[in-house]
Formats: sequence, C-alpha cells, structure tokens
Amino acid sequence: MLLPLGETHSIVKTVLTTSALEAAEFIKHGGIVAFPTETVYGLGANVFDERAIEKIFEAKKRPPDNPLIAHISNEDQIHELANEIPSAAGDLIARFFPGPLTIVLKKVGRVPQVATAGLETIGIRMPALQLARDFLVACGTPVVAPSANLSGRPSPTTWQAVHEDLDGRIDCILQGGSTELGLESTVVDCTSEIPLILRQGAIPLERLREVIPDIRISDEYAFDAPRSPGLKHKHYSPRARVVIVRRGIESYSDGGAAFIGIAKPTGHVGMSKICTSVEEYASALFEFYRECDRRGVSTILCEAVEEKGIGAALMDRIRRAASAN
Ligand code: TXA
Ligand code: MG
Repeated sequence: MLLPLGETHSIVKTVLTTSALEAAEFIKHGGIVAFPTETVYGLGANVFDERAIEKIFEAKKRPPDNPLIAHISNEDQIHELANEIPSAAGDLIARFFPGPLTIVLKKVGRVPQVATAGLETIGIRMPALQLARDFLVACGTPVVAPSANLSGRPSPTTWQAVHEDLDGRIDCILQGGSTELGLESTVVDCTSEIPLILRQGAIPLERLREVIPDIRISDEYAFDAPRSPGLKHKHYSPRARVVIVRRGIESYSDGGAAFIGIAKPTGHVGMSKICTSVEEYASALFEFYRECDRRGVSTILCEAVEEKGIGAALMDRIRRAASAN
C-alpha cells in the first residue's frame, strides 16, 4: 500500500524475505526489489515496465541521465535486449558470463528509453551468485538494476546496508549474505570495433586482455567527461573525508581517523580494518565506509595498493571518494 508523502516519494512497506520466489512476485506485479549479486546488491525492476523503472530512480534519488544495467538469467535473454552481438562481445560472453562483467550493446526498440537514460545502447550482465540466478529465473524477464543504495552513497554489500538506505522506499529486499566481491562489475562497451572499458570493476584488465588483447580503458574514463554517464556523478563515497595514504611513508598520527588497508599502521589511529589480501580489502571497503559513517568518523585513511588485478578497481573507487571530499 502506498501512503503519499510529499510530492516526490511515498512510504512503502518493505518486505524482507529469503525466498527468491516471493521476491520475484513483486517484480511480476510492477514492484521494485533489492537482491544480492556477487558484486553488490542491486535494485531491480522488469526491464519492460517503464513505471517500475521510474520507481527505481525515485527510490534512489538517481539522476535520470544515468543508465541501468539489465540482469539476465540465461544467454537467450540477450536477444530480448539486443539484436547484434559483435564477435568480440560473443568472446567476452563465452568467457565471463555468468560473472561480474557488463557488456554494452545496441538495444532493440522494445527496451524503454527510461531504462537506458535515453541511450541507444544497453548494459547487460548475467550474475553468477546462485540466489540472484534463482531470483532472475523466477522473474522470467530481464531485470534492470542499479546498485541498491541512495544515489551518492557507497554501494551496499549487505542487505542491512540496503535497508539502511531504502527501507520504506522499495517493495522488498531479498536477503542474502554479504557480497563476495564487494566492488561493481566491469563495464565494457562492445559497440565500437575494439571494445572499450567504460568502468573498471571486478574483472581486471589483465583477464579481459586474455580474450581481447587490444582492449583498453576509455580515455573518457575520467572524472569529468565520461562515456559511462554514471561516472560523472558523485559516487562510492562515505560522508567522512577519504584520504589516501602510502605504506611506510606516513606515520598515521591522527588518532581520530579510521584506517583500512593491508599493513598495520605504525602510528595511532582509531577504528581500523587490517585485511589479509587485496581481495578482502576490496570486499570490505564499502561496508567499512558505512560503519565509519554510523560512528560519525570524520576522516578515513585508505592505504594505497598496487594497481593490478582487482587493485586497479579498488584504487579507482578510493580515488573517486577522495576527490569528492
Ligand atoms: O556490479 C554491478 O554492476 C552492480 C550490480 C547490481 O549488478 N550494478 C551497478 O549498477 O553497479 P550502477 O547503476 O550503480 O552502475 C552502472 C554503471 C554506471 O556507471 C552506468 O553509467 C553504466 O554502468 N552504464 C549502464 N548502462 C550503460 C550504457 N548503456 N552505456 C554506458 N554506460 C552504461
Ligand atoms: Mg551505483
């Protein structure tokens, strides 16, 4: 039931469930549902239901010029979204679907403009997490989903983080565990002759190069003039100030600051999270930001890591947060 609350949004009762079938019923009836994937939680709607997609933008307070990714449960569904699959896209699909890779293809006319923010292309990804797959199979349609956070906040890696941002604004949360990877998918534009990386993410450049040796990161993958429209908005940031620190150079002396990284800091810091690998660091970052915000921490020191493998996407996210201060 919807209770009007001001002009822009309504209060909805948000149902919590561990049942993929129950969650899918909301999608079938025009609702919006948060669900886990191996990267971060998404906030889904039926790709062909314009009104439901509008609800996603309202619930997240997402700028309307930021397109959504369509999530599929089987490769046949690609043909409901796109007509042409260039050979490089076919190679990427064969290697990385299901998994944390989004490919951008030319969309078919039936995909509504609101889903793609007016673009003639659509991002497509097949999540690997079993609960996501069960949910998408039960929905019986591709599901568009941005990350399930309020716009500008860190992506949610637990259902509790989704609840914190979106309780009362969405119909349902499908409760899974903490997401394994913790950083979003890599977005690759396959409409140009040589595919271009539009957003670094959970599949590193080195692995993409095994399939497409010429693949490169878009020059527009910058803070101001992005080809992937979402990148120009404030993103991936806690309320606290983020400062990048290098191992061994600084002695961390700010006792009020929190720290996340791999090497134990030499100086005195407040709350800290020491990770045993870059993978663990990547999967812990966004929840650490949120925990710092809950505790009112004003500064978060993030240790720089080598920009290879998942470390490249991790440093990308940290830099974006640090530049948003
Ligand atoms: O891992 C993920 O990708 C998660 C999970 C839920 O799948 N989703 C996610 O969605 O991170 P979102 O909306 O927070 O980020 C989608 C990114 C944005 O930077 C957006 O601009 C870009 O993908 N994108 C989506 N469709 C696009 C398109 N047609 N062309 C270019 N960029 C696109
Ligand atoms: Mg997002």
